[in-house]
Amino acid sequence: MLIAVLFFLTHRCLRNLLLLWPQFHQLPPLRPPGTSRRIPHTIIIGVRKGGTRALLEMLDVHPNIVVAATEVHFFDWDENYVKGIDWYRGLMPFSYENQITIEKTPGYFTSPQAPERIHDMNSSIKLLLILRDPTERVISDYTQVYYNRLESHKPVQLFEDIVIKNGALNTKYKAIQRSLYDIHMERWLKHFHLNQIHIVDGNTLIKDPLPELQKVERFLNLPSRIMSSNFYFNQTKGFYCIRSDGRERCLHESKGRPHPVVNSTVLEQLYSYFREHNANFYRMINHSFDWH
Ligand SMILES: *[C@@H]1O[C@H](CO)[C@@H](O)[C@H](O)[C@H]1NC(C)=O
Ligand SMILES: *[C@@H]1O[C@H](CO)[C@@H](O)[C@H](O)[C@H]1NC(C)=O
Ligand SMILES: *[C@@H]1O[C@H](CO)[C@@H](O)[C@H](O)[C@H]1NC(C)=O
Ligand SMILES: *[C@@H]1O[C@H](CO)[C@@H](O)[C@H](O)[C@H]1NC(C)=O
Repeated sequence: MLIAVLFFLTHRCLRNLLLLWPQFHQLPPLRPPGTSRRIPHTIIIGVRKGGTRALLEMLDVHPNIVVAATEVHFFDWDENYVKGIDWYRGLMPFSYENQITIEKTPGYFTSPQAPERIHDMNSSIKLLLILRDPTERVISDYTQVYYNRLESHKPVQLFEDIVIKNGALNTKYKAIQRSLYDIHMERWLKHFHLNQIHIVDGNTLIKDPLPELQKVERFLNLPSRIMSSNFYFNQTKGFYCIRSDGRERCLHESKGRPHPVVNSTVLEQLYSYFREHNANFYRMINHSFDWH
């Protein structure tokens, strides 16, 4: 123990000295004694705009969980995948042996290559997938792109003008494609058993986080440590914020933006387009949701 502490202190001294030279500014962060970087034990694979950030931040409250700070895009972007597993591990946080590492990249769920690549890394891995009503997801996807375009002074289009082309639903629209959960899930089930994929109800997580998080704790065989006192409702934001280690934090302001009011005929067209896909998805996972 003493040696470890001494080593740690010496390491820190040396590092501070080295930092005096500009060429050493790229030095990696300090490694707390007894920790190492590990490949993820669990990955949140999606879906984009499903609530992946909220899920990750809420799970981070658990003392046995450490989370990767950024979306890594290892399994879905070829230019990252070719860098190899050591590059990937290098982006993971330091963890103790009793902790599990979680990474989230929402793009994995809809990526054609991700299931096989993740299976190659660890065929018995446990995966988390957070989903919400597919129509709501499309509108949320649109809303994010809308604000991004506004901020970079690019022209924006009305939701209805993108979703409807010549009077019919524009099913080529990427946001609609991403909401075809059955199509994507089929690819995952070619490589993983259904019992390796836990589905979190994104609509419920936002309204009442604790029960959904307790299901995740059970799925990951973790002791129950997340408490109702870890969450408080913020009236202004209309969302739960997180309280842990005496700190309070809310999700970034880009989360939970108000959605546009969508023409009801267009909404009905979306609902009816997704209905069959949803039914197919429910059969696949032997569970149903109260989506439109
Ligand atoms: C693979 O995943 C299983 C289940 O989460 C885990 O117990 C095991 O340690 C993982 N293997 C590696 C090499 O990370
Ligand atoms: C509640 O949300 C508002 C708006 O996002 C924020 O300014 C405020 O700090 C939050 N309050 C608390 C107690 O988290
Ligand atoms: C919604 O759009 C349809 C055409 O797709 C149009 O006929 C109808 O008037 C619109 N409804 C409203 C309330 O704007
Ligand atoms: C489907 O779920 C029901 C309970 O919800 C369970 O009794 C049944 O065994 C499940 N079937 C399969 C194939 O997993």
